Amino acid sequence: MNFFFEPYKIKVVEPIFFTSKRERKKILEKAFYNIFKIPANKITIDLLTDSGTNAMSEHQWSKIMEADESYAGAESFERFCEEVKSFTGMDYVLPCHQGRGAERILAEYFSKKIKNPIVPSNTHFDTTKANLNYIGAETPDFVINEALDPEKYHPFKGNMNTDNLKIFLEKYHKRVPAVFLVLTNNSMAGQPVSLQNVKETREICEKFGIPLFLDISRIAENAYFIKKREEKNKSIKKIIREIISYSDLCYMSAKKDGISNIGGFIAVKDKKLYEELSMYLILWEGFPTYGGLSGRDLEAVAQGLKEATDEKYLEFRIKEVEFLGEELSKRGVPVYKPTGGHAVYVLAERVFDHIKRENFPGQVFSIALYLEGGIRVCEIGSLMHGKDAKFEFVRYAIPRRVYTESHLRYVAEVSKLVLENKNKWKGVKLIKESPYLRHFSAEFVLL
Ligand code: F0G
Repeated sequence: MNFFFEPYKIKVVEPIFFTSKRERKKILEKAFYNIFKIPANKITIDLLTDSGTNAMSEHQWSKIMEADESYAGAESFERFCEEVKSFTGMDYVLPCHQGRGAERILAEYFSKKIKNPIVPSNTHFDTTKANLNYIGAETPDFVINEALDPEKYHPFKGNMNTDNLKIFLEKYHKRVPAVFLVLTNNSMAGQPVSLQNVKETREICEKFGIPLFLDISRIAENAYFIKKREEKNKSIKKIIREIISYSDLCYMSAKKDGISNIGGFIAVKDKKLYEELSMYLILWEGFPTYGGLSGRDLEAVAQGLKEATDEKYLEFRIKEVEFLGEELSKRGVPVYKPTGGHAVYVLAERVFDHIKRENFPGQVFSIALYLEGGIRVCEIGSLMHGKDAKFEFVRYAIPRRVYTESHLRYVAEVSKLVLENKNKWKGVKLIKESPYLRHFSAEFVLL
C-alpha cells in the first residue's frame, strides 16, 4: 500500500496563533519588513528554520530529568561523548553550544595556522562563511554544474565539483588549511552529497596533503538519500560512519539532525588536533565536558542522535518535504527539483520576475507569504548571500516532528495566493544592514 503518515503520536500540544490580514500588515511595518523581527506568537505556521525548532521525544524528555549538571566530568557528558563517538566513529569529542560555536573555533584555528587562508566548500552555509570571512579567509564554493539547473534531475545535486576543486588546489593549496563539505548542502536547496563524491573529495585532499572537514548538521537526512539512491544494502548508521571515516574532523549543529533545541560538537580523529582545539573551547564555549551546554542539553542531543538514524523516521521526514514540494508545484509555485532533505526551496525570482535582485524578490516573497496567511519562511538569496547567491530562494524549512500534513496543505494554499497577488508588489529597499549576516537584522521599506 502506498500510504505514509507521521511515525509518532502526539502527547503534548502547543497552541497555534492566528492573526488577521489587517494585523499582519501592521506587524510587518513594525518589523521593518524583516521576518526575523516578527514575534513568534504572531506567526501561524513557522517554517523559518528546522534549526532548534524540533519536537523532542518522550525519551529525550525523560533523559533530561536524569541529567547531571556537574561543571566537570558530568555523567551526562560521558553519555553524550559515547553517543557522539558511536555516531561518528571519531575518538575525540568537543561539545559546543551550537554550530557556529564550532565554526568560530575552527576559524580561529585556521587564522593561527596560515596567513590569508582560503577554505573551499561544496557551498558554505552563511554562518560558516561569516565566521571564516571574519578572520579574513576567502570562501569559494565549488558545487557541481547540474545543481545550477533547478529542473534537471541528478541524485546528488549537493556534490562538490571535484574537477574545479582540483584545478583550484593546484594553484592555491598552500593557502588552504582544510576543504569543507556540507551534507546536506543547505545553501544549495538542501541537496545531498553522494558517498562517492565524499571519497573523491578525500582523494583530492590527500593528494595535496590537505585535511577534509565535514559539516554533518544534516548527515542523517543525507545518509537516507545515499541509502535510497546509491548504497541500498547499507544501514543508515553504517553510511554515516563511512562518510565520516573519509574526514579528519566533523562538526555538527545538533539543532538539526540531533533533533534537539540547542547543541553541537566537533569530533576529531587526532589527539593533537583535539588538544589544540580544546584551548579555544575553554576560552569561548566552556570546560571540555560541557562546552556551553547544560547536562540536560547533552542528554537531549545524545538521545536525539539515536532517534535521527531511525529509518522509519527518516522515510517520513524526506517524504513530507517531497509532499510539500508536490503540493506547491500542483498550485503553480516554482520549486527547485528534486526536493532535498529538510526544506522546499521556492524560486522566488520566477514569481517576482518584475523585481530586480537589488530589490530582493525572495524577501518580497517571504513578506507576501506572511501577509497572506501568517506563514514565516526564510530568504536564501541576495539578501543572505549577496553577490554569491546563485538563486533567489525562499526556503520552506520543516521543523522535525512538529507539523502535520494538513498544516502543509494550508501552506501550499496560502502560497497560491502569493502568486495570484504578485503584481501588487514592486520590491523592497534596504535601509539598514550590518556587515556580517545582514539578513538577521536588516531593515527595509516597501517600494
Ligand atoms: N551548518 C549548517 C549546514 C547550517 O545549516 C547551520 C545553521 C550551521 C552550520 C550553524 O549552526 O545555527 O547551530 O549555529 N543553519 C540554520 C538554518 C540557522 O536555518 O539553516 P547553528
